[in-house]
Amino acid sequence: MSERVEIFEVGPRDGLQNEKRDIPVAEKVALVDCLSRAGFSRIEVASFVSPKWVPQMAGSGGVLAGITKAKGVRYAALTPNMQGYEAALGARADEIAIFASASEAFSKANVNATIAESLERFAPILEAARHIDLPVRGYVSCVTDCPFEGAVAPEQVAKVADQLFAMGCYEISLGDTIGQGRPDSIAKMLLAVKEHVPVTRIAGHYHDTAGRAIDNIDASLALGVRVFDASVGGLGGCPYAPGAAGNVATEAVEAHLARLGYETGLDAAVLAKAAAMAKAMRS
Ligand code: HMG
Ligand code: MG
Repeated sequence: MSERVEIFEVGPRDGLQNEKRDIPVAEKVALVDCLSRAGFSRIEVASFVSPKWVPQMAGSGGVLAGITKAKGVRYAALTPNMQGYEAALGARADEIAIFASASEAFSKANVNATIAESLERFAPILEAARHIDLPVRGYVSCVTDCPFEGAVAPEQVAKVADQLFAMGCYEISLGDTIGQGRPDSIAKMLLAVKEHVPVTRIAGHYHDTAGRAIDNIDASLALGVRVFDASVGGLGGCPYAPGAAGNVATEAVEAHLARLGYETGLDAAVLAKAAAMAKAMRS
């Protein structure tokens, strides 16, 4: 039997958060419903952040209310603070994600807080989620390069990943936010993180700005990583990371993994349909 690699679909959140056009909730719901038929176990569909900071995600409650939840799929929402956590709970998200940065300048630009302050804000979220057994995923941004500070030290990424894991995140997603990672810098970073977080709890979240995301996935596979975030149609970027182009496209990752003989459980035909929908939604 071939080995399983999971693709965590983040397009409806990480992808659409960056689009300039005001995308109606119904279009987002249609995209998620199509993705729900593709065979994912987890799809990030919402973000309960300040609408002043990311206006595109303002309809997130409507998206969670409007989708037809498929059996066996967990629908995730990004939450920066308790206000976002309460909103995600109210909208019945199946899991939530908190997001820290490995670089101070990006942390300030993205959440208006130092890394330490952002972790302090996450503590009550993890505490509250633990009481109701709500899974919490942790992101670390800028794991190799920061748009403001340049190269980021692997030890700094390992420190933040370790803190998020110790606080109770069940998985740590390592984000090459501006897509400047290369197989060697990704490998160095992963080796440092693996000292603190078991590789079975690590996910790779790679943007394809410099066209190296698939190479970076290969480098990560070689080090034992078996979960990768991707965005259908290559939608995406981050509004607070200048130069962050799309996330690696889900359909490209699926095709690559299939060629390598891994089992993703995804239906390529349904995925192609979703990718066409996603591309049509681009600004
Ligand atoms: P702030 O301005 O410092 O916050 O922003 P504040 O506490 O002073 O509140 C300001 C206003 O925002 C208040 O409203 C709050 O009520 C409201 P006002 O009184 O002015 O009318 N507010 C909220 N509204 C709705 N939901 C909330 C919420 N919180 C406060 N949860 C804050 C701090 C964290 C809120 C802000 O900086 C923010 O929302 N940042 C989010 C930025 C973001 O979403 N970035 C993209 C996601 S990260 C990413 O894409 C990277 C990733 O993909 C991994 C990778 O690629 O590396 C994950
Ligand atoms: Mg991202």
